[in-house]
Amino acid sequence: MTEILMTGPLMAYAADQLKARFTVHELWKAEDRAALLREVGGRVQGVAGGGHIRIDGALFDTLPKLEVVSNFGVGYDNVDAREAGKRGLVVTNTPDVLTDEVADLTLGLLLATVRQLPQVDRYLRAGKWLSSAYPLTTSLRTRKVGIVGLGRIGKAVASRIEAFGLPVVYHGRSRQDDVSYRYYPSLVEMAQDVDTLISVAPGGASTHHMINAEVLKALGPNGILVNVGRGTVVDEKALIEALNSKTILSAGLDVFEDEPRVPAELIAIDHVVLLPHVGSASVHTREAMGQLLVDNLVSWFDGKGPLTPVVETPWTKKA
Ligand code: NAP
Ligand code: 8YV
Repeated sequence: MTEILMTGPLMAYAADQLKARFTVHELWKAEDRAALLREVGGRVQGVAGGGHIRIDGALFDTLPKLEVVSNFGVGYDNVDAREAGKRGLVVTNTPDVLTDEVADLTLGLLLATVRQLPQVDRYLRAGKWLSSAYPLTTSLRTRKVGIVGLGRIGKAVASRIEAFGLPVVYHGRSRQDDVSYRYYPSLVEMAQDVDTLISVAPGGASTHHMINAEVLKALGPNGILVNVGRGTVVDEKALIEALNSKTILSAGLDVFEDEPRVPAELIAIDHVVLLPHVGSASVHTREAMGQLLVDNLVSWFDGKGPLTPVVETPWTKKA
């Protein structure tokens, strides 16, 4: 049987399918990972990627027969896809099947942040309603939303924001001709013109700390930042400083720079909403993602090519 390396846990739904079809080695469970790689690395042809182990040149060096990396997640900043491309490997991800789920969660997080839903819930549980009503909050009404990264999820977020009756503008590396939203080549200029910034941009070097002190200052004292893309896009230290100094009003975060570690300084701030990276975390959507991970590997090893290769490792069917 073809041998596969799993770098992190997958739900049984997907893991059981992999185990039925392949011989599976569970790298993250090994007490001595280097020893496991020395023992089985020479036979491994596929990687099922997930969890916190980086899939990069150092790992590829231990897997001389590797052909394909099937990543659990549409974001693949945990994989050095450029290096994979140089080595003739194929990397796949899980686009589309999670788009609506993550967009739904983004609107939930935005509303929770603006209307302080977790804080309101804590207020009731603490019995404080018995003495007085919860103080009035800020509002979604009159807000103008700037989206950073108007891709699949960004567009699904934008259409939901429109349904809530709010104007949408966006920033990315390039203008998109198929949308009517105003495009800002400069993120700082967009931040100046909006009061609500929603980041759905991918991680990696090109977006690292793109949302920095200057952007947060431009967003201003009524500003709300929602981040569901990747934690590394936001300079977390600058964000903590901006929240503490009231340079911006609040933030709703599903992603962090060093997951699963969240800075104590951020946790100490009451006027933020913090979620443990749950954008796609429903049974329905995680099963769809797991299925696509499995289907990519099965399709590859059946000789039919990858279903959803990433741009760094394009694949064309050989004649
Ligand atoms: P996508 O369709 O590839 O969209 C990514 C968007 O980001 C594109 O519109 C791209 O626009 C923009 N972008 C890329 N590099 C940029 C840069 N350097 N500066 C500014 N904009 C940039 O991907 P998607 O399916 O929407 O997913 C987006 C991201 O969401 C994923 O990569 C992942 O990190 C995150 N995500 C999070 C969760 C969660 O649970 N919180 C779940 C799923 C996904 P241009 O090419 O025009 O720049
Ligand atoms: C997953 C995600 O939770 O798809 C992504 O990019 O961030 C999420 O859907 C994550 O990849 C699993 O670790």
